[in-house]
Amino acid sequence: MLKTLFRVKPVAPAGHVDAGEPFEGSLEGEATLKRTLTAKHLVMLGIGAVIGAGIFVLTGQAAALHAGPAIMLSFVMAGVACALAGLCYAEFAALMPVSGSAYSYSYATLGEFVAWFIGWCLVLEYLFAASTVAVGWSGYLNSFLGTLGIPIPDALSSATFTVINGEFVRSGAILNLPAVFIVAAVSGLCYVGITQSAFVNSIVVAIKVTVILLFVGFGLQYVDPANWQPFIPANEGPGKFGFEGVTRAAAIVFFAYIGFDAVSTAAGEAKNPQRDMPIGILGSLVVCTIIYIVVCAVLTGMLPYTQLGTEKPVATALEAYPSLLWLKTLIEIGAIAGLSSVILVMLMAQPRIFYSMAKDGLMPKIFGKVHPKFQTPYVGTIIVGVIAATLAGFLPINLLGEMVSMGTLLAFATVSAGVLILRFTKPDLPRPFRVPLAIVVCPLGVAACLYLFWQPFTEHWKLFVGWTVIGLVIYFTYGFWNSKLRRA
Ligand code: ALA
Repeated sequence: MLKTLFRVKPVAPAGHVDAGEPFEGSLEGEATLKRTLTAKHLVMLGIGAVIGAGIFVLTGQAAALHAGPAIMLSFVMAGVACALAGLCYAEFAALMPVSGSAYSYSYATLGEFVAWFIGWCLVLEYLFAASTVAVGWSGYLNSFLGTLGIPIPDALSSATFTVINGEFVRSGAILNLPAVFIVAAVSGLCYVGITQSAFVNSIVVAIKVTVILLFVGFGLQYVDPANWQPFIPANEGPGKFGFEGVTRAAAIVFFAYIGFDAVSTAAGEAKNPQRDMPIGILGSLVVCTIIYIVVCAVLTGMLPYTQLGTEKPVATALEAYPSLLWLKTLIEIGAIAGLSSVILVMLMAQPRIFYSMAKDGLMPKIFGKVHPKFQTPYVGTIIVGVIAATLAGFLPINLLGEMVSMGTLLAFATVSAGVLILRFTKPDLPRPFRVPLAIVVCPLGVAACLYLFWQPFTEHWKLFVGWTVIGLVIYFTYGFWNSKLRRA
């Protein structure tokens, strides 16, 4: 039994993969995913998935309650952890250009059981993040419609249930309609095609980056360096300021980086994955890290950090300067665009993970079905869309934000470990991209991700353990028995 659980899937290096050439889902006559994405598309997908609720929503409270102006340092810390993991993702994605991301990499290095567990963690990352961000999108949309004088009533823009003293109770609202709408619209786009999705994503990314640059350009004039003092406010208790507060804030703003790894799920659809995957993953990470640090510097320079603890810190900073009020509406539009592209990439990524799991027999075959015309994993896209829309419409899932981070961090740690393991178990595989100094970078990546994982885990361990148990039940009742590797 143990041998079966930890059996690894043989790695078949892709050799050179050409545009239009199918790599996955290779049964004769069966539709396969289509190789159309270029390096530019991939960088845009990464930026599309990364810049969202993290910077537009979480930054303010993390600065006001935990780090002060040193929120910049928190972003650097989270960025370093992601860069270490990002290098490892780049090595794997170029070596194995398949859609399963961390799931497939774990299957090749740590065995089926770990692979299943990581696949299950990725559901937390992609599906739950899509729903969480959809709720944020609904909030920004309503605020924007409010400024136009046509707000959506609370009953139709809030979750049906809420949690009071650990129990689910009716909130009085009917449904978070805008959240359901955005998930449905984006799922429709994902159904139709990856090229169309990537095209829309590129436009949306251009809008959000322009708006952010406008904020930086105009906000810079109002920066008062006195607001950066003290850079790290004195500690006021557990996780409140001081160095401890900075690391606590790093665990919170880690959410802002989630998504660069989603680029790797498009590896099965990239024209030249060996060259372009590292560019897509690392390129988007570098661009986003620079943007985040600059935005934080401007934000904390414009207003004392104590005043930034709102759900819309960027808008809050602008409200303090009447001459910048015109920019506030643009920021809201940028946030609405930004959050849409995050939802788009997350909803593109999840069905592709399920697709890979279905190909391995660990998920029902239906998730492996590819649309004969659109060449997308359409059944998975519909199922994921319905679940994500339901979660977004009915549940107060903001509290699951930390669950999203925990699932992601475990996946990152596993990928970092996997790279090193594969260097020893299969040293001769052709690696188009190699992590430099892997013997140092990989363990550091594991340590950094586990450190960040530990912080929310101590608080929310019951939820996480509950999620793991559900995953184990599904694996031992379905995946274990249907695994193609086991049957072979
Ligand atoms: N990184 C994504 C965001 O901040 C999940 O919304």
